[in-house]
Amino acid sequence: MSELRAAIVGTGGISTNHFEGYRAAGVEVVALCDAVPQALAAKASAWGVERTYLDFEELFSAGGFDVVSIAAPTAVHHPATLRAAAAGVHVLVEKPMALDLRLADEMIAACDAAGVVLMVGHQLRSSGPGRKASELIEAGAIGNVTHVRLRQAHDWGGQGVRPSFRTRASAGGGTLLDNGCHLADLARFFGGSVSEVYARLGTLMYPVEVEDTAHVSMRYADGSLGVIEAAWTATGWEEGFWVYGTEGALECTNRYGPQNLRHAYRASPGSNWDKTDVTTFEFTGASSHTRHVMAFVAAVRGDGPVVCSGVDGREAVRIILAAYASAAANAPVAL
Ligand SMILES: NC(=O)c1ccc[n+]([C@@H]2O[C@H](COP(=O)([O-])OP(=O)(O)OC[C@H]3O[C@@H](n4cnc5c(N)ncnc54)[C@H](O)[C@@H]3O)[C@@H](O)[C@H]2O)c1
Repeated sequence: MSELRAAIVGTGGISTNHFEGYRAAGVEVVALCDAVPQALAAKASAWGVERTYLDFEELFSAGGFDVVSIAAPTAVHHPATLRAAAAGVHVLVEKPMALDLRLADEMIAACDAAGVVLMVGHQLRSSGPGRKASELIEAGAIGNVTHVRLRQAHDWGGQGVRPSFRTRASAGGGTLLDNGCHLADLARFFGGSVSEVYARLGTLMYPVEVEDTAHVSMRYADGSLGVIEAAWTATGWEEGFWVYGTEGALECTNRYGPQNLRHAYRASPGSNWDKTDVTTFEFTGASSHTRHVMAFVAAVRGDGPVVCSGVDGREAVRIILAAYASAAANAPVAL
């Protein structure tokens, strides 16, 4: 395949991760689009990108690129993905893919019909620990999965909730949506199909309309259990997962140093009930975001799988929407 060229729609916070991912993958970013001229000019100058557009319609009409990152606010994901598909451009769309399953379905159908790759930005699948954990689970290293615990939480750096995140109208939801949709995706990545959720939400620390603390109890189709914990009421940035099985456990947290993956199991004869064998995996190199963009590029080149498909992105949204419905009804909701 000839050299790929990329465009980025939305040049705000997360766009830098996309730019760095393309650079690491050896893909030139040739065009940028943002609705705000200052944001656009700042990134175009910092990254040395000459072609800039204030409207994605103009960007796609001009063409000249093969892949696009859609890193604009969530409401833009659906129309921009449809436009990209119509132009025959492969899409890496940020999470949440859409806030409405019907829109997600249209995005999947449009990319399928156009024969372009659609990948969703749940980058935790591409992190070193996440990927290794998935491989170990697949290989049976912890036996049958019995319980999955997933946590992503922070405190906005002590600065308060960013204004656009405070209301349902502007954000669509609180921490359950923003952090929880990554975890809903990991829940499926590690444990398979989720069949039921029961959620509780709280607004405990900030004067905001949306929830700042949330947890979701999950039942998987095979009967195993799981928990999602999402919060803006943590102290510092906190991220981790714990996957328990009949023959071992996987533990990964950023709280006590580098985010290594520990695999606990019993192999040594005569070990006590409180002592296990442990293998620790350490990871260096690129960030999960960079790895995810590199995986997208590999998928477009036909050198690797689509790590997080449109269907995966849609399922993460479906779990979160069911969790909101559960919290509202204070009852379990079947998926
Ligand atoms: N994967 C992750 O870990 C992660 C992290 C943060 C944000 N996100 C997601 O990425 C998306 C963007 O988030 P962000 O934090 O970068 O937001 P942001 O507000 O920092 O940046 C969004 C940019 O999009 C621009 N924009 C708005 N409407 C546009 C349009 N119609 N066309 C082109 N540009 C437009 C804005 O002017 C802004 O510069 C959201 O969907 C968010 O959920 C994902």
